[in-house]
Amino acid sequence: MNRRLWAPKVFLNFVTPVSGKYIQCLNQHNVALLAATSNSTARMATAKKAPENGVSPPFNRPGSRIITLDEFIIRAEKDFDYATGELTGLLRDIGVAAKIINREVNKAGLVNILGVADSGDNASGDKQQKLDVYANEKLIECLQNSGECCAIASEENEDFLQVPAASSKKSNYVVMFDPLDGSSNIDVNVSVGTIFAIYRRVSDSGGPATIDDFLQPGTKQVAAGYVLYGTSTILVYTTGRGVNGFTLDPSIGEFCLSHRNMRIPENGQTYSVNQGYYSKFDLELRRYIDNCSDQNYSLRYIGSMVSDVHRILNQGGIFLYPSTRKYPKGKLRLLYECNPLSMIIEQAGGKSINTHLKRILEVDPKELHQRSTIAIGSPAMVDELKAFIERYSALPL
Ligand code: AHG
Ligand code: MN
Ligand code: MN
Repeated sequence: MNRRLWAPKVFLNFVTPVSGKYIQCLNQHNVALLAATSNSTARMATAKKAPENGVSPPFNRPGSRIITLDEFIIRAEKDFDYATGELTGLLRDIGVAAKIINREVNKAGLVNILGVADSGDNASGDKQQKLDVYANEKLIECLQNSGECCAIASEENEDFLQVPAASSKKSNYVVMFDPLDGSSNIDVNVSVGTIFAIYRRVSDSGGPATIDDFLQPGTKQVAAGYVLYGTSTILVYTTGRGVNGFTLDPSIGEFCLSHRNMRIPENGQTYSVNQGYYSKFDLELRRYIDNCSDQNYSLRYIGSMVSDVHRILNQGGIFLYPSTRKYPKGKLRLLYECNPLSMIIEQAGGKSINTHLKRILEVDPKELHQRSTIAIGSPAMVDELKAFIERYSALPL
């Protein structure tokens, strides 16, 4: 099928504007879903006080009403006095791109789109998979077409891309993403995901975006999140007021609020690390891993950080990617892997540090594709690792 002809249809089918009228959908079980009501719209227009737990009224009330991602982000925007709608538009663009990527990921086993792309290696020197390229293109297309951001950076592009001024409406935001994390898992039907981070630009909004707009510490993120294409597809995001998750209901083509105000367990019983590199890790990391084993913690490692972190967010645990001989500074990318996932985990009550014990979100980036070590997860487990590093890193090997 010609994808260019198909794409506009996706927009028509999936983008459901929230109006003052009832929008009624029927899912496959013939259950009437009220996506928006005139009553809720009236409440939305007046409520402006800050949410207590990251979920604004009326969304934190128990009940069965379906709340779509679009409705949620429009409501959440009203909590920000300075909101111009750009951030809302960006999150909606990412949601639309995620549905298109999800469609392609789900049929990956059916059509001839598996394998390594002709374009060779990406900016970080890794093998580039065809779906990496596809996901990258769709995200860029969705973001460029709407013009809600002024520049884009991706794992798959050496340099950042300017969004032409004509279409960017002098936007104040830049977006960074890993279009497909864990892409070596695609061919074997294992979960992959998209990770994204949104920043306000620091350069003059009258001119082109600059590298400084991207080289900001993670504390400056205005929104961050991920989409996990797993047994179901879930979009999890934060704007700094808690974390919420939206599961894609394929029968109505909408992300629906399914995980309100997500909180990571204080402690966990699983650790997540590529233990095949054990002998390449520093002594303190080996001691910590020995301790995990001594305590009968379970080892869980998917090879797709976004999937491991999603499990840890829900069930507790710790994810580690320390330095190895091959990757002395760590393997994972600070700006579009570590920072957004760190913001999510911190917002959910967890911790994220590098193996020099610095909070990931406070690291000053020096380059777009900078790598970092990381330890992220339940706060008690990150603290325990920290104690091991403090105790053993001073010892001679
Ligand atoms: P990507 O597919 O975007 O290149 O990222 C893969 C990353 C990360 O998701 C995963 O945890 C890690 O690489 C796995 O690396 P190892 O195979 O070295 O364990
Ligand atoms: Mn990745
Ligand atoms: Mn990737």
